[in-house]
Amino acid sequence: MNVNGKHYRTIWLKEDDPNTVQVIDQRFLPHDFVVEDLTTVDEVARAIKDMHIRGAGLIGAAAGYGMYISALHAPKNSEKIFLETLTSDGAKLKATRPTAINLEWAVQRQIDAITAARGINAKMQTAYSNAQAIADEDSDFCRRIGEHGLEIIREISRIKDGEAVNVLTHCNPGWLAFVDYGTAISPVYLAHDRAIKVHVWVDETRPRNQGARLTAWELGQHGVPHTVIPDNAGGHLMQNGMVDLVITGTDRTTYTGDAANKIGTYLKALAANDNGVPFYIALPSSTFDWQVRDGIKEIPIEQRDEEEVKYIAGLNDGEIKKVLLTPENSPAANYAFDVTPARLITGLITERGVCKASEEGVLALFPERRVPGNP
Ligand code: MRU
Repeated sequence: MNVNGKHYRTIWLKEDDPNTVQVIDQRFLPHDFVVEDLTTVDEVARAIKDMHIRGAGLIGAAAGYGMYISALHAPKNSEKIFLETLTSDGAKLKATRPTAINLEWAVQRQIDAITAARGINAKMQTAYSNAQAIADEDSDFCRRIGEHGLEIIREISRIKDGEAVNVLTHCNPGWLAFVDYGTAISPVYLAHDRAIKVHVWVDETRPRNQGARLTAWELGQHGVPHTVIPDNAGGHLMQNGMVDLVITGTDRTTYTGDAANKIGTYLKALAANDNGVPFYIALPSSTFDWQVRDGIKEIPIEQRDEEEVKYIAGLNDGEIKKVLLTPENSPAANYAFDVTPARLITGLITERGVCKASEEGVLALFPERRVPGNP
């Protein structure tokens, strides 16, 4: 997508140095646009863990490039040691964030492909081309998600006689969370580009404020009308007919349709259900967990540092400053995700189309997965 008129992805190989991965360092947005160089597996792992980069698709792509960097640095004199190094670097990358399944999916995809290639040179080439393929596929799938989601927005716009369609979203499921386009925001961009009037209610998304900082910035860069709201406002807006549909992303969705997403999503789904507002989850197939049936019991929920709850950062006198919000000694809890049960989800918007949030719905779109537990 565009930043000040120039096209960017969120992750790419440096033009004159393909051994360096470059990313947009999201810690500085919306106030500063900073590009970070990553040259070691430790740097990639830190960038994921400390959320220089974040969002399910992007951390999957970063893991793909991380494995490519691992291959660049792994000892080349023995295939066994080469593969052992990759496996241990893969474990390091996977340990950074537990909820978004794209991370382990991308590491495993790399390990499988590299293991299958014969000889060190072919393994190196595979690590490179597979990292690029993971990123390209993420971008392509997100674009297709946009096309399928667009039809939902188009239909609401038709019913409203062209009046603006009000979409509520939570966290940042836009292009910054993926390689390009995003998931939940991708249909919004397409609608806007095709002159369908659309307006987005942007949940601020405490504690890291991905909505207020990132989604609002993205939408602004693309010229999409939007309004940032406190996380607790959605129920009121829905009761008053000010939300036509909710679309969020997800970090892991079971093949039965339960969706883990940023903490607070479940409450939006409850409010949407109570008010008859359609509630969609948008995801690429890399975000499905084909092993887990019960999302509430089985999806691991990341718990992050209490500092993220107790402090808030923002621009003050031209400088980004962090201030304490709570009494210094009050403990805080920081559950990063919650799970919305399938029964509260109107549909899943995937790269193959829209389906019911149910085992039958998902497997009808992905028939090759019909034997759960056999990826
Ligand atoms: O903790 P984050 O910022 O990595 O959270 C992930 C997300 O971006 C959201 O949960 C998003 O809505 C899902 S779409 C990747």
